[in-house]
Amino acid sequence: MHQSINGKRVTPPAFPKAAVLDPVLYDYLRRADRMGWSPYDLCEQEQMRTIARPERLSEVQLAAVKTVLFVEDHLPGYLSEYLRIMTDPTMPDDQQIINRKVLHFTCRWVAEEDRHAHVLELYLTRSGLVKQDALDQEMLRERQTAYTFPYDHNNQLIEGFIYLALQEKATHLYYRALARDIDEPLLKTVLGRMGADEASHGTFFYDLLIGCFKGDLDALSRKVSAVATDFKMPVQNNLLNYRRQLLGMMRAAPSYQHPDVLANMLGAVEKAGKGYSRDALELVSPDVRCFDAE
Ligand SMILES: [Fe+2]
Ligand SMILES: [Fe+2]
Repeated sequence: MHQSINGKRVTPPAFPKAAVLDPVLYDYLRRADRMGWSPYDLCEQEQMRTIARPERLSEVQLAAVKTVLFVEDHLPGYLSEYLRIMTDPTMPDDQQIINRKVLHFTCRWVAEEDRHAHVLELYLTRSGLVKQDALDQEMLRERQTAYTFPYDHNNQLIEGFIYLALQEKATHLYYRALARDIDEPLLKTVLGRMGADEASHGTFFYDLLIGCFKGDLDALSRKVSAVATDFKMPVQNNLLNYRRQLLGMMRAAPSYQHPDVLANMLGAVEKAGKGYSRDALELVSPDVRCFDAE
């Protein structure tokens, strides 16, 4: 893991710092414990009979739900990529020690992602909207291209984390918008649960990045803007007829605005900056009070 500065090979410090990772990991795992839900509960027959109104979905909305399913169903690809990166034995020892900790997050994260494809598959088949055989074939076909993480983990680990933060926020905001723009109560609930998971994942990456850049949040904002310039919706290159599918997703959820993703992350960084300056004032104020008392 090297960077070249003025022709010299420099090993960047391990990322993220353990002192930042430990509490952020604690918050995420505790949140995940509280947010447990099962695709089987959401899509049980009773729910399908009493709550679901699949006939209210338009063709465009149904196609968008299938696209979301195909994106989420790339999970085996994401999982093998993250494991490859996080277990790379050529990384420096201090980075490998941190990576082992990050894997506590990765394992829970992919378990939560796994229920997203699963719940949509159950929903589509149990509602009668799609036949299982036909869906199996489509999912098989859409999974065929390998997923490659778009950043070099040896030199661009921070950019990779920023990319994941934006990806989680994009999925959170998209699921929220789609839930708002459809008129199918059970699917609204399903998307609500999925969106809450994505929000929790987004928070993990935001907290980590903001904590690691404390004191230099402007540098983080600049990096976020740079990554966002190239940012695309997840697995952009992995779906067949991606442009057509993406267009369909946007038509199905007109309240989704892609620029909101970057605005949300930059807003979180800015808010943290204000919070940190308040902290700094509070740290100073006891001394001021002491002096006043004398
Ligand atoms: Fe997901
Ligand atoms: Fe997620």
